[in-house]
Amino acid sequence: MRPVPPRTAFCKSAVPSSVREAYLWGREHLSACGVEAAALEAEVLLRCALGVTRAQLYVRWPASVEEGAWRRYVELLEQRGSGRPLAYLVGEREFCGLPFWVDERVLVPRPETEHLVEVVLEATRDVKDPAYVDVGTGSGAVAVALAVRRPDATVYATDVSRDALAVAERNAGRHGVSGRVQLLHGDALEPLLQAGLRAHAVAANPPYVPPSARSELPPEVLAEPEVAVFAPGPRGVELHERIADQARAVLRESGVLALEVAAKWDQARQVMRTLERMGYREVRAVRDLAGLERVVVARWR
Ligand SMILES: C[S@@+](CC[C@H](N)C(=O)[O-])C[C@H]1O[C@@H](n2cnc3c(N)ncnc32)[C@H](O)[C@@H]1O
Repeated sequence: MRPVPPRTAFCKSAVPSSVREAYLWGREHLSACGVEAAALEAEVLLRCALGVTRAQLYVRWPASVEEGAWRRYVELLEQRGSGRPLAYLVGEREFCGLPFWVDERVLVPRPETEHLVEVVLEATRDVKDPAYVDVGTGSGAVAVALAVRRPDATVYATDVSRDALAVAERNAGRHGVSGRVQLLHGDALEPLLQAGLRAHAVAANPPYVPPSARSELPPEVLAEPEVAVFAPGPRGVELHERIADQARAVLRESGVLALEVAAKWDQARQVMRTLERMGYREVRAVRDLAGLERVVVARWR
């Protein structure tokens, strides 16, 4: 998406005569700004401004728009057109079928990360009362989804960002799993190592964009926290390697390590080679729905 000045006759001072007209204006504005899913996003923002459900929106299609709602809608459209992620504007994103609160403090959970959750659940299907770790929990999406899907699980979720942990705490509360999701502030697996905690699976979606790729990123991604997006080294897999190294002291026998990687920069191959060198077994890559290698999985001893 490129934030270019709209080519539309977008006139924010004139309140349109109907909800339908407001929608059409918004769609045209977003489309002119280069937003790919302009139709869907204009509808979502209009619903947000009006405070209505999808069904209510269509019922109100011919009705007039109150001036305050129109001003809210225009503000949302302008922010979206200048590259602010839709999820931050509406304050929510769905992940594994669950709604998560999100804002500028956390990465917006991505659908491809749902594979990480599925891989861990599948690999620990036969483990009773499993202990899971989610390194770099952000909004808490992975940790909370694991806790919801496995009611007998305990989940340890770490992050270096206290801001992110505050969001994760709200999301754990929202889904009624606060008692089973322990939020730990610290670097990678350090908090578990210090407390002598062990787990049946360690999952992570670490920041993996090499800093040199900054210019390739769309404005939405640049609006997300730097610490959530950019890897701490030039290859993008440096944090993956540190987590894998530390996980050897955290994982129980046959414990599972699952690391999300970028579908480029040869990251899956690099991480697989590292895990094999470290002594992990059954090292493999799981592909996403687009057929790209997304999650590297292995077992410890
Ligand atoms: C790509 S985001 C993933 C967030 C969330 N797990 C998800 O998949 O939506 C990476 C997260 O790792 C955290 N992080 C970055 N470096 C870290 C480190 N050294 N130790 C722990 N967390 C880290 C960031 O604050 C961010 O929340």
